[in-house]
Amino acid sequence: MLEKLESLYQEALGALDAISGGDALRDWELKYFGKKGGVTELVRSVGALPKEERAAFGKRANEVKTALEAAYAEREKLVGAMELAKDLEEGEVDVTLPGRPRATGGLHPATQTLREYARIWAKMGFQVYRSREVEDDDTNFQLLNFPPHHPARDMQDTFHTTKPNVLLRTHTSPGQIRAMRELGENGTKPIRVILPGMVYRYEQITARSEVQFNQVEGLAIGRNITMTDLKGTIAQFAREFYGADAAVRFRASYFPFTEPSMEVDVECFLCGGQGCRVCKYAGWLEISGAGMVHPVVLENGGYDPAVWSGFAFGMGPERATMLKHGITDIRYFWGNDLRFLEQF
Ligand code: PHE
Repeated sequence: MLEKLESLYQEALGALDAISGGDALRDWELKYFGKKGGVTELVRSVGALPKEERAAFGKRANEVKTALEAAYAEREKLVGAMELAKDLEEGEVDVTLPGRPRATGGLHPATQTLREYARIWAKMGFQVYRSREVEDDDTNFQLLNFPPHHPARDMQDTFHTTKPNVLLRTHTSPGQIRAMRELGENGTKPIRVILPGMVYRYEQITARSEVQFNQVEGLAIGRNITMTDLKGTIAQFAREFYGADAAVRFRASYFPFTEPSMEVDVECFLCGGQGCRVCKYAGWLEISGAGMVHPVVLENGGYDPAVWSGFAFGMGPERATMLKHGITDIRYFWGNDLRFLEQF
């Protein structure tokens, strides 16, 4: 038996040395180590030996097994290297083939615009303040100087929840109240923040109106803030966002929470004010509602309007993104269609 083991050992080693391919390697493994392989069977037959020979045979059999396994592993490495060398020589592996590009994610166009806004406003000292999307009626309307049943409420059709007085904010302006109350330290500290975030309106969804969209509110409170500061600040924003020679104009308007109120237009960057389809032949595009914070709103935020003043504005980043990229339908923004999203 021991002799048989030794000759099998030599035979297996010899056979291994002659192997140069993966298939032959697998055959060898089956022949010696498979269920009915030579080494396997020999080891199994240890029981047939006389008792006193078993220990010595078992010991040697284990040595042979370990040695063959090691030899096999070594050969496997060698065969791998040989096959690779052969492939390279025969040109089966084309090392000049360019790698496959990995699909990468990207930022949503609205997010890109929001970040651009934040970057521009940060340069002028405006920090980001996050306010809630689920609001109460008081903060969304009342404290912003919308009395109950005031017709201005109709400008913003509201999603109400089943809980009385709780609604989805229709604009980011309620964040003005929260920012003043939280950051103002009882009306003693100046404030300079932007408030970006989603707002909701109960409206028919069309190419031009969605039930949800982002707004970026701006709020500056200080001791000597004037309308001139508001106009200069917005004009600077327009130059940063729309280009160095962007012109703006201010039109008188109305919001309950600002007095005086205005709307801001930027000269159409597509036609340079000549009039085109995008600006509907007006030469101007509306980019913001704005105004001086109403004294009632300052008071509701904890400030004494005799000492403090401030300005506020509200912008629509989706609209700005549409104008910038010539997007004609706002529904693309939340449609999650990759053919749209991958263009940005
Ligand atoms: N909240 C207003 C709107 O949604 C925009 C606005 C903000 C106007 C701040 C003036 C000041 O239409």
